[in-house]
Amino acid sequence: MDNKFIVFEGIDGSGKTTQSKLLSEKINGKYTFEPTNGEIGKLIRNILNGKKCEKETLALLFAADRIEHTEEIKQNLKKSHIVCDRYIYSSVVYQSIQGIELDFIMNINKFAKKPDVLIFLDVDIEESFKRMGGRSKEIFENREMLEKVRKKYHEIIERRLFEPKYGYIQVDTTGKAIEEVYNEITKELREKNIF
Ligand code: TYD
Repeated sequence: MDNKFIVFEGIDGSGKTTQSKLLSEKINGKYTFEPTNGEIGKLIRNILNGKKCEKETLALLFAADRIEHTEEIKQNLKKSHIVCDRYIYSSVVYQSIQGIELDFIMNINKFAKKPDVLIFLDVDIEESFKRMGGRSKEIFENREMLEKVRKKYHEIIERRLFEPKYGYIQVDTTGKAIEEVYNEITKELREKNIF
């Protein structure tokens, strides 16, 4: 059986990182993430932590980081399954919220590799907030942002953007324990005959 390229996406507090690590362990796969820990990824993190730059520059940096990462993913797929925490869909969501046109985003990301499946973890905004430990002052702003992100992910799935070979798996994690979410994910993967 071929090695699979699995992408996890979701809003903050959806449990995406926990679940992607858990799945990669169970299937003996390799866990990887974006922005990466490479040189471009480090530059991106500096910008995310407050260094100013134009939104177009940031979009290009995410795409460049992804080109390097995609080469690595292709090589590693020869050896094992790959579970990737965020990929091109994050660019579609976050960069378009920043005001970048979809066509431009898709164009600069034309070297991205189609995953076999996208697992989108959804969560109620209130719960996402609680899981993140809540913030004081910017609560309203953050909530507004989370709503936008959530809506954009739903739009990607509805419009079948960059549709993976086996399609999308959507799991609502609201009020659910880690084990419960994990079981739902693996059930859907089995139903799609991926594993
Ligand atoms: P990070 O804290 O590393 O990820 P997470 O929120 O999954 O723990 O932050 C990554 C941030 O970068 C997150 O806010 C989403 C954003 N991002 C983009 O804007 N575009 C992209 O293409 C990617 C991969 C991430």
